[in-house]
Amino acid sequence: MARENTRVIFKKRPEQSATPDCFDVVKEPLAPLEPDQVRVEVEYVSVDAGVRTMLRGEGFHRQVPLGGTIHAGGIGRVIESTADGWEQGQAVRGGLGAQTIATVPTSQLEKVDDLPGLSLSAHLGVLGGSTGVTAWIGMRHVACPKPGDTFVVSAAAGAVGSIAGQIAKKEGARVIGIAGGDRKTAYLVDQLGFDAAIDYKNEDVNARLKSLAPDGVNVFFDNVGGAVLDAVLDNLAMHAKVVICGAISQYDDMDNVTGPSMYLRLAERQSSMEGFAYFHFPESIGPATVELEQWLREGSITMPEEILEGIEKYVEALQFMFDGGNLGKLLVKPRSGL
Ligand SMILES: NC(=O)c1ccc[n+]([C@@H]2O[C@H](COP(=O)([O-])OP(=O)(O)OC[C@H]3O[C@@H](n4cnc5c(N)ncnc54)[C@H](OP(=O)(O)O)[C@@H]3O)[C@@H](O)[C@H]2O)c1
Repeated sequence: MARENTRVIFKKRPEQSATPDCFDVVKEPLAPLEPDQVRVEVEYVSVDAGVRTMLRGEGFHRQVPLGGTIHAGGIGRVIESTADGWEQGQAVRGGLGAQTIATVPTSQLEKVDDLPGLSLSAHLGVLGGSTGVTAWIGMRHVACPKPGDTFVVSAAAGAVGSIAGQIAKKEGARVIGIAGGDRKTAYLVDQLGFDAAIDYKNEDVNARLKSLAPDGVNVFFDNVGGAVLDAVLDNLAMHAKVVICGAISQYDDMDNVTGPSMYLRLAERQSSMEGFAYFHFPESIGPATVELEQWLREGSITMPEEILEGIEKYVEALQFMFDGGNLGKLLVKPRSGL
């Protein structure tokens, strides 16, 4: 039976938000495999904030060409192979793209183990490079909170932020999460055991920090940038550390990034700001994965997954994330019932 691939392609460069008219969903027949290729039935596609920065035509991240498949990490199983050692049924992870069936060289993939008792999706969630592993690397290599520190994290109920905050709790810090809306702040305090949470959409972040952290913030793990970053900068303790993991509030207009306007607090408080990307620490990806899996299995770390079904939902999922809809890891399951 002739099979088809359905993929999400990049149609039009966004002016601000990546609206649905910037994408198309196309179906096409599968071409015969070339040597050393595998065909993968994609089971989960990772929805990542950084994708917005790949739609500009230039930038730090590898850009998606117009007409090209949207770049996305994914997990799936080999259904056909011309590559030695890549058998049908093998679970694989890699840059599979926003599509139902990926035809890729093996150099673009890594084999992963099935996870007894856990969904394969955990390889993109707690164990994912751009998710749990990013949080682990940012915490261990850059943030490094000490017991008793006041640790603040933004986009705290999202994929990277929620794991960073949970690691900070493990390190003995007092953790304050910043997130949008009651559902998220309640989740952070009631389910994750954060010490406090600030709803940046309905509260004055600066005033709340002054009351929650009168002695100042020792470590800030920032995923958001803009006004939230400024509010935390204004509340730093002496010798504080600001970690730039990302700045989602700025991704829709990277030619006009806002702020930070409070950066002189770094001089006044003898503090520092340091950014990182997880792939700058390749030697830590293995150890991070091992420890994260151990924590996941013992139940000392957790992360919900929100899953939209149908590859055509990828565009909606991206908007959902930029509207702050997701709690934990956001995924798309390209075909329901798989
Ligand atoms: N450095 C690295 O290696 C690396 C790797 C992966 C990801 N990242 C970065 O990590 C951050 C989180 O990524 P993720 O994939 O885990 O996403 P996520 O946190 O699961 O989802 C993004 C969240 O950001 C918040 N947000 C969206 N627009 C916002 C705005 N304008 N202002 C403030 N908050 C906004 C929303 O939560 P609210 O409801 O709280 O608004 C949304 O749920 C991103 O900045 C991403 O680029 C960095």
